[in-house]
Order: sequence, then C-alpha cells, then structure tokens
Amino acid sequence: MKILLLGSGGREHALAWKIAQSPRTEKLYIAPGNAGTAEVGENVAMKADDFEAIRAFVLDRGVDMVVVGPEDPLVKGISDYFSAVPELVGVAVIGPSKAGAMLEGSKDFAKGFMHRHEIPTAAYLTFDSATLQEGLDFLETQQPPYVLKADGLCAGKGVLILNSLEEAKKELRKMLGGRFGAASRKVVIEEFMDGIECSVFVLTDGKSYKILPEAKDYKRIGEGDKGLNTGGMGSVSPVPFATEKWMHKVEDRIIRPTIDGLQREGIEYKGFIFFGLINVNGNPKVIEYNVRMGDPETESVMLRLKSDLVDLFEGVANGTLEEKTIEVDPRSAVSVMLVSGGYPEAYKKGYLIAGLDEVKESIVFHAGTALKDGQVVTNGGRVLAISSYGKDKEEALRKSFEAAKKVYFQDKYFRTDIGADL
Ligand code: AMP
Ligand code: GLY
Repeated sequence: MKILLLGSGGREHALAWKIAQSPRTEKLYIAPGNAGTAEVGENVAMKADDFEAIRAFVLDRGVDMVVVGPEDPLVKGISDYFSAVPELVGVAVIGPSKAGAMLEGSKDFAKGFMHRHEIPTAAYLTFDSATLQEGLDFLETQQPPYVLKADGLCAGKGVLILNSLEEAKKELRKMLGGRFGAASRKVVIEEFMDGIECSVFVLTDGKSYKILPEAKDYKRIGEGDKGLNTGGMGSVSPVPFATEKWMHKVEDRIIRPTIDGLQREGIEYKGFIFFGLINVNGNPKVIEYNVRMGDPETESVMLRLKSDLVDLFEGVANGTLEEKTIEVDPRSAVSVMLVSGGYPEAYKKGYLIAGLDEVKESIVFHAGTALKDGQVVTNGGRVLAISSYGKDKEEALRKSFEAAKKVYFQDKYFRTDIGADL
C-alpha cells in the first residue's frame, strides 16, 4: 500500500515511524514532513492543506491511503474533497468528514453535541457580539475562575482562564471584538472543572471503535506546570489513575455515546478521536474533543501500540475495524520535548543539532527540524521529542533525560519534571 501522511510535527514523525514498520506499507510519503520523517519515508514539499497539490500527487503516484495528522486539513474538509472528486473515490482518507471535524473546529458545536448526547462536560453558554451584554451579565452570576473559549481553531491559544471578574469581562469584550479574528466571533463561557487531565484516543470507522493507550501531557513551559501554555512539553503513558474501572466509565459515559451520537446525527467519521478528559472526583468529564492524535502524546502512545497501525487503518477505511484487535505493550513510554530557548514566545531557528547519534536507548522523534546542507537544524519552537520505554515510567524518564542531555543545540530547554506529579 502507498501511503501519504500529512503534517510535519513530532506526532507525524511518530506516526510515520509506526506506519513504516508495517509489512503492508510499500511506500510512505510525508508532506511536508521534517528531517526525522525523511529517515522513515520520503518527504514531499507540499502543504498539508493544499488540496489541489495533494490531489495531483495522489493521482500521479497512485497513493492508496491519505493519513491526516493535524486538524487543519480536516476542518477545511479534505475528507469531503476526496469523496467529491471522482478519480479520488477509491483513495482511503484516515480523518473525519468536515461535519465530524466540527467536534474540534467549533467549541460551540462540540458542547451542543455533548449536551444532546448527555456526555459529561462543564456547563456552558455561548455568546456572540449581539449577546455581549448577556455574556457580561452571565459572568456576574458565575464563580471564579472564569473559563472563556474562542469557538474556532486558535492553534491552542483560544482558551483563557481568569481569576478576576473584571478581567473576564474585559477579555470577553476583546474576544467578541475580534481578538482571534473569525475564531472568536462566538465565545463559550463554561464552568471551571478542578481535577487532573488525561488524553484518551480512539480509532473509529464510524460504527465500531478501538481504544488506544491513554496518555498525560504537560502543557506549561515551566517546572511544576507553571508559566505559559505550549504545544506540549512531554507525555507519559500509561496514566496511573486511568484504572480499568475509570476507563470503563470513560467508555460507557463518553466514548460509546460519542460514537452513537455521530451515527445518530448522520456524521461520517473515519479516523481518530482524541478525548481531552479531566478526572473530577473519580468521574471523567470532557474538556474538549480533537479530531486527530495528540502531540506529544502520540510520541508515547505509538511506542505502546503493538498492533499493525496500517492494518487498523485498513479496518477504518473498509468499515471492518470491529474484526481487528489492539495489542498494547505493557511497558511504560514517555516523551520529553526539547524546545528552543524563548519558546512559546519569540525564539530563533536554524541552530545545528548535535549528538543525535549518541542516543542509543531512546527514540528521537523530530518535531521542528529541517535539513540544511545535509545537516539537521532547529526549525521550530518544539524541536525534538525524546521517547523511551521503561519497565515503569521512572526508568523510561531516566533514559529520556539522559538522552536529552546528550543532544545539543543552542538555547536548548526541557522540563525535568515530566511525570513527576503522577
Ligand atoms: P482546550 O483547548 O479546550 O483543551 O483548553 C486548554 C486547557 O485549558 C485544557 O487542557 C485545560 O487545562 C484547561 N481547561 C479548559 N477548559 C477547562 C475547564 N472547563 N475547567 C478547567 N480547565 C479547563
Ligand atoms: N497535547 C494536546 C494536543 O495535542 O492538543
């Protein structure tokens, strides 16, 4: 099978690494990819949301399956685009329809969906510029902290959690006034939930589903989970509080109602669903849906997935996922992200990365790297995800931290407390 994977981050390197191991993979292309994906497949200089270019490439190379890494092409409707072009009809797309991608593309839609299907989540109301005053009045009736969410995609920056009422009101005005452009034309205000977070992933063909290993990610830049939000500084799988009992609750109250809800609403969904959950007094609640895998969770989750990912993808495409089994490695897997100094604010790119060959006991997934004159250089805020196995998370973390010290680039930074809270 010839596979085209769309995207360029650590998630995509981890997916590419796993796809390349499958005996079913005859050829793997990654568009646009990074210096790491070039080691397991062939990079193609093409944007992940340039549908015309993707169509031409798929037809020219006889690609059988397109796996969509990031949310953007999905929210823009790549799956519907493939269904609408007659020559592309036989090509499988792993990723939901545009309607399904609304679970991530619109917080208001996602909240409404959860409400319709009685899926546990925070209470909420949605406001737009016409109902600004109602929004301000509503905030008066709420307790701090106040949670404000831009409706649309904001590259992870659209959620504000504020302690003062005055600030919350000011931010609501700003958001509805265009702070995030069209993405904040509507704003969801929701109840604050106190608890510890966990990312749960499923693969679905729209009827049946398979649960992948869960993971916890670490979002803040600083030790102790302090400071600015990032794309993710590390991840750990398994998550100790995600016991069998807890996962049963997740499946009964959240996963199954979601899949049934999609079916009942006639929404085509073939791909990953990422449930961003929070454990509130032993009960899982949904913080958000994503319609893709998590990053940097994928860099731990793929290590623990023993089953052939391409075989699972074929099940998704053909609607035979029910017949497949998921085998999970009992070991722990962790991932520690090395980032550019300054990130998530201004940082420099283009620094030479040294020491990659010295890493023997970990797998280095590239997140923001590029090849320049045959050498690997930094090309983003999050640069490398150092993933390791261990008999427990402590052993896996020890390996990742050791490797993190061996790899060098100017202004390298990483958190040394990944997994420490568990
Ligand atoms: P989201 O983009 O929806 O995942 O929100 C980003 C982060 O904000 C989440 O990972 C949580 O840490 C936090 N968050 C979002 N909604 C809530 C909520 N209702 N209560 C508490 N924390 C929240
Ligand atoms: N790690 C969170 C995300 O991928 O959105």
